[in-house]
Amino acid sequence: MADDEAKQLAETFPADPELYRPSKEEIEWLKKVIGIEDEEELKRHAFAVQAEGLAVCPYPCLTIFVFTSYKIAKHPAYQDVLKLGKERPGAIYLETACCFGNDVRKLVSDGYPIENIVATDLQKDFWQLGHTFFRTTPSSFPVPFLTGDIFDPEFLSPASPLPTSRSLPNIPPPPSLISLPTLTPLLHTLSIIHAAAFFHLFQKEEQRELAFLLASLLSPLPGSLILGSHIGLPDTAEYRHGGSRPSHLSGTMFAHSPSSWRDVWVGSRADERGVGEGGKAEEGVFKRGEVEVWAEVTEVVDRSAFARQEMGKTEGVSKGVILSWSVKRV
Ligand SMILES: C[S@@+](CC[C@H](N)C(=O)[O-])C[C@H]1O[C@@H](n2cnc3c(N)ncnc32)[C@H](O)[C@@H]1O
Repeated sequence: MADDEAKQLAETFPADPELYRPSKEEIEWLKKVIGIEDEEELKRHAFAVQAEGLAVCPYPCLTIFVFTSYKIAKHPAYQDVLKLGKERPGAIYLETACCFGNDVRKLVSDGYPIENIVATDLQKDFWQLGHTFFRTTPSSFPVPFLTGDIFDPEFLSPASPLPTSRSLPNIPPPPSLISLPTLTPLLHTLSIIHAAAFFHLFQKEEQRELAFLLASLLSPLPGSLILGSHIGLPDTAEYRHGGSRPSHLSGTMFAHSPSSWRDVWVGSRADERGVGEGGKAEEGVFKRGEVEVWAEVTEVVDRSAFARQEMGKTEGVSKGVILSWSVKRV
């Protein structure tokens, strides 16, 4: 990018240095994978790429430099992810809503076989900016990337999730990841699906649809895993968010609690506490007993005025809360 273009971008999207807070461990990792030893230079590099990302679409996660950190390695199920990568031949890992692809890059540096990873996002430019930030090219970091809207049936054709089974169904093996045109050829084949800061972009019904879509991609083999984290609450609620959001996203957000999130995956019975709206039972994505669901909320420590505004929304919610979760076939 030309210097004057970069300068103009930096003026349009000025970085807030208070929000640049990778941990010590993350800084060491960034230095190693990017190859910039000087921490001030690393910071300037992050500020410049952040401005380019915000120009593509102004997600709050970019404002708070999420791409300079990683979530996957902090997830309690991370060891299961690495183990599957090592022990299950050809175990395919999909990073949904990958943005710059920082989580995928962490996974590769921790030894997950790169040839079994695929990433997807609505915005191709974010993936390209991942190459810019991590100073790679599609040849030096050959993880295949698919551009698409996960709700678009031409990109991911709706299909029912398979029941958990020890034997593989009679479906064709997945094609080479390099030449994938869409996500559809991956139906029923993925061992691991990661979805970070993705579900909370959507309303309650869309979140449920997204859960079905991801489940339809999951291999029926026991141990296959969908995991992630996003904004949640101790008690389910819809609220109007207080921070800035890309304009195509609605002004309201829907936050699941651990128990309502569990119901999404395995349903609720009419005689239970977790009954659906109006006291009706709700069907889950999977049948009970087919999967183990783990979900927990943790409070986000307010780090800045931005985080307080963004995470401590305006109406009725005073703290930022993250719902971490996993759904594992048993
Ligand atoms: C808040 S960012 C999360 C990025 C990353 N997973 C993280 O945890 O930092 C949301 C991402 O979802 C992508 N996205 C939004 N709507 C999408 C859709 N319908 N299909 C696929 N990706 C979508 C955006 O382009 C963006 O990269």
